[in-house]
Formats: sequence, C-alpha cells, structure tokens
Amino acid sequence: MPKNLGRTPPMGWNSWNTFTWNINEELVMQAADEMVASGLKDCGYEYIVIDDCWSKKERDENGRLVADPEKFPHGMKYLADYIHSKGLKFGMYSCSGTHTCAAYPASFEHEFVDANTFAEWGVDFLKYDYCFKPKGIPGELLYKRMGMALRNCGRDILFSACNWGQDDVYSWIKETGAQMFRSTGDIQDSWNSIVNLAKSQFGRQSQQGVYCWNDIDMLVVGMHGGSNNDFIGDGGFGCTDTEYKTHFSLWAMMNSPLMIGCDIRSMTDATKEILMNKDVIAINQDPEGRGAYVLDSSGWDNGQVKILIKPLENGDYAIGLFNFGDKFGSRASFPFWDMGLPSSAGYGFEMYDCWKHETIGTFAERFTADVEAHDCLIMRAKLVKL
Ligand code: GAL
Repeated sequence: MPKNLGRTPPMGWNSWNTFTWNINEELVMQAADEMVASGLKDCGYEYIVIDDCWSKKERDENGRLVADPEKFPHGMKYLADYIHSKGLKFGMYSCSGTHTCAAYPASFEHEFVDANTFAEWGVDFLKYDYCFKPKGIPGELLYKRMGMALRNCGRDILFSACNWGQDDVYSWIKETGAQMFRSTGDIQDSWNSIVNLAKSQFGRQSQQGVYCWNDIDMLVVGMHGGSNNDFIGDGGFGCTDTEYKTHFSLWAMMNSPLMIGCDIRSMTDATKEILMNKDVIAINQDPEGRGAYVLDSSGWDNGQVKILIKPLENGDYAIGLFNFGDKFGSRASFPFWDMGLPSSAGYGFEMYDCWKHETIGTFAERFTADVEAHDCLIMRAKLVKL
C-alpha cells in the first residue's frame, strides 16, 4: 500500500463548522458528490471527514463503537465505499479521553480495538480530540497510543491530532506519528478569530513540516455565519469575502491543512473562487513544505501589515502582505535585503500576483504596495537577473 500520508498539508471537508451534531448519511454523500461536481476534487481536496456526534451513546457487547443507526442507517462501511467510489477518502473522529467533546464514547483504553474498527470500515483519516482526558495521564502518551494503533491496523489512516496546542504539543507531536496537529482553540466565523489564530502561530512555522503539519483549524471560508452552533457562527454575521480571501491565504502560506468547513452544496461564486485558487493552493502544497517566516514590518502603519515569506521548492518565494488593520489602504513596503538579497548581487524579483493571476512586474531592491484593510496580496516571486 502506498504510504506517504501527510506528505503535503491534507485537504478536504469536515462536517463540524456548519453542521456540528446535525449530521447524517445523506448529507455526507451529498458533500462527496459536490466535492467532485464543483471541481474541488480537481484542486486537490480529497478527504470527506465526519466530526463528532456520529455514534451511538453506548459501545456494543464486544466493546466496539457503533454508528448511530438513525443518522447512518447503512453503517460506516457503506459510506466509506460510496466516498471511495468517488475517488475520495473518508475521515472520522474520536477522542483520546473517555468521551468525545460532545459526550459520545471515545477511545481511551479502547485505542487498539477502535483503530481496527476504523480500518475495517475503510477509514482513511482519524481526527483525535482531547476532551475528557483522565487526570494524571500525559496527553503525549494518549496520542502515542493511538499513533501506534493506527500505524499497525493494516490500513493507511492519516492521524489528525487535536489537542488545541496544549501541553507544549510542538515538542512531542512528531513522536506520536501524527501527520497534523491542531495548535489552537476552535475557530469562529469572525475576522477577530481568524486574526488571533493566525497570529498565535507566527514564529511557530519551523516546528512543522512534511509529515506533521500545524493545523490552525478548519476553514470558515464561505460560511457567512451559517452554523447551527452559536459559538462557531459568532452571531451569524460571518466575514466579508475579502476577509475569507485573507483567511485562506494565511492558512495556505502557513502550511495549515485546508479543511473546508462551509456547506459545499451551496457555495457562492466568490467562495468557489477562493477555495479553488490553484495558485494559492500550490503555495500550500509546495513539496518542500517549508514554513513561512514573518518579516519585521513594524514601522508600516504601526505593524498592522505583516509580511510572510515562504521559500518554495523551485527557488521561488511566496510572499504575503497581510493588512490586519482597520484603516483603509495601508502602505506596505520591504527591502529585498531582509529576505537575503543585497542589491549588489544584481538580481531582482519578478512578481506574479496569485489573486489576479498575472505577472505584475520586475522589482529591484524593494517592493511597495497599498493593501486595503483586512485584505492581502499574495505573490510568487522569481529571482531574475537585472
Ligand atoms: C473540539 C474540536 C472541534 C470539534 C469539536 C467536536 O474539541 O476542537 O474541532 O471537533 O471538539 O465536539
């Protein structure tokens, strides 16, 4: 079987942000249909993931998890087969504690039997949460247990750890075998939440990379406040499309897995344009998986504009200018010296704008641009002889 799980940041759709507890077989099958029909699959999205609230409240007489027959009348194997028939992969959810966050049975002291059950059902991805963790047991050990169980269950199952960045997860997560790890609390469909989550991971990028990605949580792009959970929906207002564009660009530049959280059956054209921007996705999926670093841009509108730089495999650099401020039109500017290019070398950068999808020119020594409030500019910069 081909391994290589998590070679690039995983991409897919997860039921939680929009539907939380209100999930069922029909919805998940429709999501799979839409993943293909909309063109998302062709852009690289492949996992269809069911989050919390999928099981019965009790295990069966053999200690196995059982799918809720009302929500999933044909069982999970049937759903896995359907998802696989579409050329997609199937993800499920459990938790390292005694119960999931929504109080369904979870995998503590059932790690090996559950990993085998997931393998039998044809699961390809397991999100593994951190609620109801028994006191006195290090979380690190619980993730090591499930990591071992998954790696030996006879099926390639990508391990998506979700301990919200707690207990210094950065220092041990790679040891567990997890291919991605949540580093933050839960996202909300609001600009403040997007900014806070992204900024909390600035400077952390060297602690992730190929086979173990820093997951800043599932995307809220295109939700427009549409969640049946008040916390996630945050008042039901959502964000502007410009803010969703900036959110997607940040997650892409920072190598976060790209897990869509909106209802993909009813995406607007603007939502599709954001989620299917192949130039931005290519930055996220760059085979080298190097983290983005933050250029010190203080001095430009009191540090409201942040500049991220990510070296790419072919020698190009992804450059993101992000205006976190509320002020209309902030000027952002930085010398190439700060990236390692002295003007005496005789090179400049040819800049390709990943949202306009066109080359905007060749620049020597410095780049300057106006970036609107909450907006961003994402460029692919190619080193050229002047
Ligand atoms: C949280 C997790 C969310 C979601 C939820 C389900 O702990 O961060 O992404 O999975 O549990 O109850």
